[in-house]
Amino acid sequence: MIRGGTRIRVPGDKSVSHRAVLFGSIAKGTTRVRGLLDAEDVGRTVGAARSLGAAVQNVGRELWVTGAPWLDAGEIDCGNSGTTARLLLGALAPRAGATLHGDDSLSRRPMMRVIRPLRQMGADIEGGPTLPVAVRTAELHGIDYAAEVASAQVKSAVLLAGLCAHGVTRYTEPVPTRDHTERMLRGMGANLRVGGGTIAVEAGALSAADITVPGDISSAAFWMVAAAIHPGASLVLEGVGLNPTRTGVIHVLRRMGARIDVEDHGGIEPIGTVTVTGDGLRGTEIAGAEVPTLIDELPVLAVAAAFAEGQTVVRDAAELRVKESDRVAAVVDGLRAVGAEADPRPDGLVVHGGSPRGGHVDTRGDHRIAMCFSILGLRAPVTVSETDSIRTSYPEFLATLERVRA
Ligand code: S3P
Repeated sequence: MIRGGTRIRVPGDKSVSHRAVLFGSIAKGTTRVRGLLDAEDVGRTVGAARSLGAAVQNVGRELWVTGAPWLDAGEIDCGNSGTTARLLLGALAPRAGATLHGDDSLSRRPMMRVIRPLRQMGADIEGGPTLPVAVRTAELHGIDYAAEVASAQVKSAVLLAGLCAHGVTRYTEPVPTRDHTERMLRGMGANLRVGGGTIAVEAGALSAADITVPGDISSAAFWMVAAAIHPGASLVLEGVGLNPTRTGVIHVLRRMGARIDVEDHGGIEPIGTVTVTGDGLRGTEIAGAEVPTLIDELPVLAVAAAFAEGQTVVRDAAELRVKESDRVAAVVDGLRAVGAEADPRPDGLVVHGGSPRGGHVDTRGDHRIAMCFSILGLRAPVTVSETDSIRTSYPEFLATLERVRA
């Protein structure tokens, strides 16, 4: 059960936080960041920025990042953070040398998707297909790149390299992905044009900016589902990022029958209040261009699906298999362990709705798996194999869970 009416302010958006620190570290002047996510993953990007020569300091409730010409850094530990590793590869290629490595999970994740276009631009990169990867500074030239995978991380890496390359760099996406990089680069003075699925960037320096980080909709999604699976109960989520490239979870939960009110206060990164009220849920289909708008929310949406009437089918989401864990396998095994029916598919999964009875779930060390089954635990007795991983993205999750639990 949950305590209805609880108001929750989720921590800063992880994607926007990484970008604020990284872009600030190559910009002229001091970027002041409000609402930064204070979690291990973003700490990796802060550590990298410092070791490359930027000054990063806490000033009151803000983080100030003063950019500098980057210097070779030796080893950089990206921990569990794919965003740190992939964005850094692109930012480093024309600017400075370093060897990137990560934890066991990150060391299994694909890096060729970033290395390939960067090498086409002239980057000097040794290693792959996985970390560790060594970068040495090289002179880059713009390319026309049509990406095969829908990945904001790859897009961001190529655009960051393009800021320091001769000529124009054009990046075409198979389907739109989160556009935080485009919004922030433009706000920092980059010469960037967007149209027809292609983003074009030319060389130019960035200028420092004042950045407000919205609350992370990927963190808010846990509470959206917590309310959605409790008919009649509401939760109020404040300060949530509502960038339309990230709001798929709201559309899907509405389609499944949850009542959701959104008050959008606008902004470069729109921010607003989201009120979710549970109701009888029904299964749905999630596929195609909707997938990148909720890729990190699919595990918790599968939890909602486990309480819905009928089946929920997720397609076109093979990317789930190369996240912090193989999230298709992790979610299907987890659902089966709590007595729900689910089947894996090469590019997604099928969840058969019912009434999970509870059980013990192996999180595979993946923060989002630990959190989504903790949410399921609000409706059935669940234990998870660990909760340490949660500190990578949402350190106060367990405290909020206790506040929500009635
Ligand atoms: C992210 C993009 C997504 C997402 C990840 C963060 C980003 O990954 O899953 O958690 O900040 O750009 P891909 O771009 O690889 O799909």
